[in-house]
Amino acid sequence: MDIRTRRLRSSETLRRMTRETRMSPDSLIYPLFVREGSGVEEELPSLPGQIRYSPDTVEKGVDAALGAGVRSFLFFGLPASKDESGAGAYDDNGVVQQALRNIKKTYKNDAFLVTDVCLCEYTSHGHCGLIADGEVDNDTTLPLLAKTAISHVQAGSDMVAPSGMMDGTVAALREGLDAGGYTGVPIMSYAAKYASAFYGPFRDAAGSAPQFGDRKTYQMDWHNGREALKRIHADRGEGADIIIVKPALPCLDIISKARAETPLPIAAYSVSGEYAMVKAAAACGYMDEYKVMCESAVGVFRAGADILITYYAKELAEAIRKGDIG
Ligand code: PBG
Repeated sequence: MDIRTRRLRSSETLRRMTRETRMSPDSLIYPLFVREGSGVEEELPSLPGQIRYSPDTVEKGVDAALGAGVRSFLFFGLPASKDESGAGAYDDNGVVQQALRNIKKTYKNDAFLVTDVCLCEYTSHGHCGLIADGEVDNDTTLPLLAKTAISHVQAGSDMVAPSGMMDGTVAALREGLDAGGYTGVPIMSYAAKYASAFYGPFRDAAGSAPQFGDRKTYQMDWHNGREALKRIHADRGEGADIIIVKPALPCLDIISKARAETPLPIAAYSVSGEYAMVKAAAACGYMDEYKVMCESAVGVFRAGADILITYYAKELAEAIRKGDIG
């Protein structure tokens, strides 16, 4: 008797029936950049196909994504001027706050708005926290991050995503939001965020490259895996509702380990460098962009992610609709 198991690949129907990984546009989040000004719609040179908007044009970006079936967005802001303490981040009339108000007015609850809570786009030195004696000062930064989160929520943010990697951020945000009466607003925390060279194109897009030093004192060393789990547990203890692993492709092992260790939903951030790399290789004719995009995204879900933050959100939603993935 032949007891070999079959490969279950003899027909397209069978292959699709037995796919282990499913994707839905519901699990995609699309990042959008908003800068100060009006009438702005500029393509980002380091992120081909991605557009930087101003608060009055950003609805075009939202509209295009909603049209493709993407309902969730992650906002980053670029203020006109920066200062030592990143005041633009928690300015009630800041660039992200203005964008949120405009979008909420038009789309109400059709678009789910997530905001990145960090100071690096708003500080003159480009670091994610305040500087004291030439170093990033963790604890004095926390109240400013809470203030930023509250002003985002007041302007219409549905969920806040602290990305600055300051210890105690989640607790500070939870306390601040609760005290402000925003007890129902969830926190999606960048718990495992590596000091990665893959953020290069983003720093061009957001104008947030550090002016001195690097982020290695607060972002994680990519030699370390257990440390990611430690941070995920710490953030959960402080009240994180969703945790982010970032970047995605170099961290599939972290996603997989995190999946086994935490009941929280896991979001993987496929960062700017991952996107730019595929774009550049495709432009040279070295790879098929569409297929690489599909395979990479599915790989992240197969590793255990529940949510994918990606610059390819619209194209992936389309690929899912066509049945090429999912
Ligand atoms: C800012 C922040 C960064 C990214 C998201 N939030 C940059 C950084 O830490 O330098 C990177 C996103 C990307 O590369 O797509 N704290």
